[in-house]
Amino acid sequence: MKGIVLAGGVGSRLYPLTDVVSKQLQPVYDKPMVYYPLTVLIASGIREICLISSPAQLPNFERLLGDGRKWGIEIEYREQSKPEGIAQAFLIADSFIRDHPVALILGDNVFSGGDAFPRAVAAFESGATVFAYHVRNPERYGVVEFDSEFRPVSIVEKPRRPKSNYAVPGVYLYDNQVVEIAKKVQPSERGELEITDIHQTYLARGQLCVERLSRGFAWLDAGTSTSLHEASSYVGTIEKRQGIKIGCPEEAALVRNFLTRAQFDALIEEMPDCEYRSYLKNVAAEMERMGHGAA
Ligand code: G1P
Repeated sequence: MKGIVLAGGVGSRLYPLTDVVSKQLQPVYDKPMVYYPLTVLIASGIREICLISSPAQLPNFERLLGDGRKWGIEIEYREQSKPEGIAQAFLIADSFIRDHPVALILGDNVFSGGDAFPRAVAAFESGATVFAYHVRNPERYGVVEFDSEFRPVSIVEKPRRPKSNYAVPGVYLYDNQVVEIAKKVQPSERGELEITDIHQTYLARGQLCVERLSRGFAWLDAGTSTSLHEASSYVGTIEKRQGIKIGCPEEAALVRNFLTRAQFDALIEEMPDCEYRSYLKNVAAEMERMGHGAA
C-alpha cells in the first residue's frame, strides 16, 4: 500500500502562527506536526509516500524531509495550487497512486496509542476502511451512523444534527477504485471536494468498513491555537511518563526494519546534541539490552 500525506490548507484558524510557516510544520510538543502522520504511515509498513502541500510551503517540507531516504522511505511531492478539498488529493496524486491501494492521512491529525492502523493496513484487501472515534462535538466532522450491530448506515459531513457521536478521523484506506470515484465528486456547498462523498460511494457499493477506535486511543485536534497547545501538553505528558515518544519516525523506521541499526546510528550521529538525539540513543541502547538489533 502507498501513502499520501495531505498537508495543504492555509491554517487560518492558527493565525498569526501560520502567516509564514504552514500549520503542519508547527511544533506539537517536541517535533513538527507532520512527523505524527508520517510516523503512522511508517509504523503501518508504508514506505512509498506522497506529500501534498501548497506551492509556497512545499519547499519547507522538502527541506525538512528530503526524499525520505534518511528514514528508509521514499517521499514524492505534489503541489496543491488551490485547496479544494481532501478528495482533491487523489486527483493530484493520480500518477503516484497508479494501480496501488492507498492510505490517505491528514497532515494535522495527531494520534496516539494502540495498533489499530498497522493492523488495518495489514488486513486490508479491498473497498475502503475508515475509522470512527467518539467525540463530544461530532458536528465539526464527518459523522457515521451505526445500526445496532455497529454496521455503518450513513456517513454525513458536518451534519447540523449528528446521528451519533462517532466522527471519522483523517486516516483512510482505499483500494484502487478511489481515483475513479474522486473524479466524479462534485464540490459541496463550502466549495470542496468532500472526502465524505467518497465514503458514501463506497458505502452505497457495500464496500465500506468502519472500525471503531477504542477508548484509550487519542485523536487530537491541532487546528486552533488552543487545541494545538492542548495536543502539545498531551504528548508531553505521555512522553514524560513513559519515556517513549509519540510520532517519532526514526524509531518507527527502525522497528519496521526500514533502517538497519548501522543506518540508525549514522542518522543519530548527524543530529545536533539535543533531547531528541538522546532519546534515539536510548532507543538503540534499550534494543541492545533487550537482545535484538545490535549494530
Ligand atoms: C475533514 C473532513 C471530515 C473529517 C475531518 C477529520 O474536515 O472533511 O470528514 O472528519 O477532516 O479531521 P475539515 O478538517 O476539512 O473540516
